Amino acid sequence: MTQVAVIGAGTMGNGIAQVFAMHGHSVRMIDVSAAALEKGRETIKGSLARLVKKGSVTQDAAEQALALVAIATTLDQARTADLVVEAASENPALKFQIFEQLDQLVGPEVILASNTSSISITEIAARTRRPALVIGMHFMNPVPVMQLVEIIRGQATSDDTTRRVMGLATSLGKTPVEVNDYPGFVSNRVLMPMINEAVFCVMEGVAAPEAIDTVMKLGMAHPMGPLMLADLIGLDTCLAILEVLHRGLGDDKYRPCPLLRRMVAAGQLGRKTGRGFYQY
Ligand SMILES: NC(=O)c1ccc[n+]([C@@H]2O[C@H](COP(=O)([O-])OP(=O)(O)OC[C@H]3O[C@@H](n4cnc5c(N)ncnc54)[C@H](O)[C@@H]3O)[C@@H](O)[C@H]2O)c1
Repeated sequence: MTQVAVIGAGTMGNGIAQVFAMHGHSVRMIDVSAAALEKGRETIKGSLARLVKKGSVTQDAAEQALALVAIATTLDQARTADLVVEAASENPALKFQIFEQLDQLVGPEVILASNTSSISITEIAARTRRPALVIGMHFMNPVPVMQLVEIIRGQATSDDTTRRVMGLATSLGKTPVEVNDYPGFVSNRVLMPMINEAVFCVMEGVAAPEAIDTVMKLGMAHPMGPLMLADLIGLDTCLAILEVLHRGLGDDKYRPCPLLRRMVAAGQLGRKTGRGFYQY
């Protein structure tokens, strides 16, 4: 059994903590916000209860998993971890600071993974004295349900770190895919231009949002249309990732659609604000 520190108890952090605990790891979920920790724990409880109801885990296993998740509000509680998975807010300065601190805190052999969607693993690793042990572990939302973990190798990530983290992801019942550290990795590099193009189609009046989503669902067998997915992800997040692609790759094919910018400026961010391409 490994002791895992999960930094951040938000949408992704609590899902990651749940999956590790369900596979017998003892987890310390750390967040600066006590409210986020409480909410994170409730989310895990609710998710486990649903799994019990569906018959995919026993009541006993759910209780054991929950008992394996401890919470803490300060980073120094990660001190004894054998592995750290960071899932704090997507802010480069914040992540650099967290990794600098973690590097001072935990044993020199401990792997530091980040769940970032768009920040360079190479840059994060460069803030530590152990760049060979820093790697991206990009889980998908919702973590307990989604099969993929994109494993991102920074410039200095070692073969051994990659092999161990790929093995770990497999042991969690996930399918890891190894990719190199370029802006947007593979997932967002391919997804975001599709979403952006769908927004251009709305702006240019090619078709209504429902029509665009129906074409992609029924025509391409996507489980959800790109605009509904954008609403789910958050239009502000989509815009931020497109900016990363545009800046990092320097190609105008990644320029964010002006309509996307306008909706974000208006606070129409999708599901979380009740309005995006659809009303909620
Ligand atoms: N939401 C998604 O669909 C998704 C998918 C894949 C990856 N990600 C990535 O996962 C990470 C987390 O995203 P999220 O959606 O869970 O965000 P979130 O806003 O739901 O949660 C982030 C949490 O980090 C906490 N936090 C902030 N500063 C901290 C610090 N110094 N120490 C500890 N905790 C701190 C916040 O209090 C918050 O609870 C981001 O890097 C994001 O890019 C998100």
